[in-house]
Amino acid sequence: MSGEARRVLRPARRLQGEVEVPGDKSISHRALLLNALADGTARVRGLGLGADVRSTWRCLAALGVTIEAEGAHGAVVRGVGLRGLREPEDVLDAGNSGTTMRLLSGVLAGQPFLTVLSGDASLRRRPMARVLDPLRTMGAEAWGRAGGNLAPLAIQGGRLRGLDYALPVASAQLKSALLLAGLYADGPTHLREPAASRDHTERMLRAQGVPLRVEGLDLTLTPPTAPLRSLDLQVPGDFSSAAYWLVAACIHPQARVTVRNVGMNPGRTGLLEVLREMGARIELANEREAGGEPLADLTAESSDLRGVAIGGALIPRLLDEVPILAVAMAVARGPSRIDDAAELRVKESDRLRAVALELGRLGAAVEELPAGLAFGGGSRLRGAEVASHDDHRLAMALAVAALVADGETAIGAADSVAISYPVFWDQLAALAA
Ligand code: S3P
Repeated sequence: MSGEARRVLRPARRLQGEVEVPGDKSISHRALLLNALADGTARVRGLGLGADVRSTWRCLAALGVTIEAEGAHGAVVRGVGLRGLREPEDVLDAGNSGTTMRLLSGVLAGQPFLTVLSGDASLRRRPMARVLDPLRTMGAEAWGRAGGNLAPLAIQGGRLRGLDYALPVASAQLKSALLLAGLYADGPTHLREPAASRDHTERMLRAQGVPLRVEGLDLTLTPPTAPLRSLDLQVPGDFSSAAYWLVAACIHPQARVTVRNVGMNPGRTGLLEVLREMGARIELANEREAGGEPLADLTAESSDLRGVAIGGALIPRLLDEVPILAVAMAVARGPSRIDDAAELRVKESDRLRAVALELGRLGAAVEELPAGLAFGGGSRLRGAEVASHDDHRLAMALAVAALVADGETAIGAADSVAISYPVFWDQLAALAA
């Protein structure tokens, strides 16, 4: 998506109230896609219907899957079974969504037809060879620009072999693409992750009856002999969206914010651990499980944060939260550092570069490292003209920074929030009222 609207924000005198964030984006994609491949009809509620999930919905429709809207956040997915997709008549448009393009690539590798996939300018810059190379090893034919690395992609699927593969990056999108291709292979698929990434695909496939063994970082999927079961689901709130309010409350001197029904999958909650180590006052209540995923209500309050250094296996568990964590690190007392985060360079924007540049404009002492960020700490932010780089997570992180900055902050291309969080500005206004 190309963000257009410019938003002007003023510091908030206080932040208080309760919010319910949209349904988890990762789980929403999977709920549509995996139910599309099941035999039977599934009702999904609480979908996070940002532009990304709508891209998955649209692509599935073009592949012959009927998905009917039910209320504002629900859908009825009429599964066509593993072999029921049909060749799309036109190029599939994944928009801004890496999850749509990569997960679909895995499924399309197993289809006896040709598909061409493309997306917006940002998605057409993101690396796809990591997915296409192993899919080719499994027996698919696949092409892309730049020697097979960039979309538009063309995938001619067919009969696939099982795969034995060590993933070069801890990427849930890559892992999921290969597991989905593995559903169509003639033998087991063994994958080894360098570090744990989110496991929503594994949880859902198992609930659908797919034989999938997980031992630490090793996964083995055996192609199912029975149809996939359809799953009625209530999607939990998106921890990655809740993250903005958790940090906002912690760094604001007059704040108390509760976010209800937040998904607490351990592959997603690294930010909570880091914030607590920084001294954050965040309480969990009502911890429970729903639809195979843990949930809780979270309350965050004004806190006295101190700097911290992070890296290693923690990074994939807070990958999408680096822009908002950077805001916390900029204002926390004392230096902070993020290492081992080179993956951030190939997200919706080069997030290491963009975060350093834009927080720098707001007066943060921040330095871009080859694979991370370094913060002097204790920065007093002052309003400025900043840009979202058409990146939803950067727009939202900058908005939170603006709530504690002196004076006015203008954020360019602020409507990019609609990728994952269409009601972000309304909820911000309500909490700051
Ligand atoms: C996602 C996985 C992550 C994450 C993205 C969503 C997913 O990407 O950054 O926002 O739903 O699987 P990678 O797995 O490519 O790191």
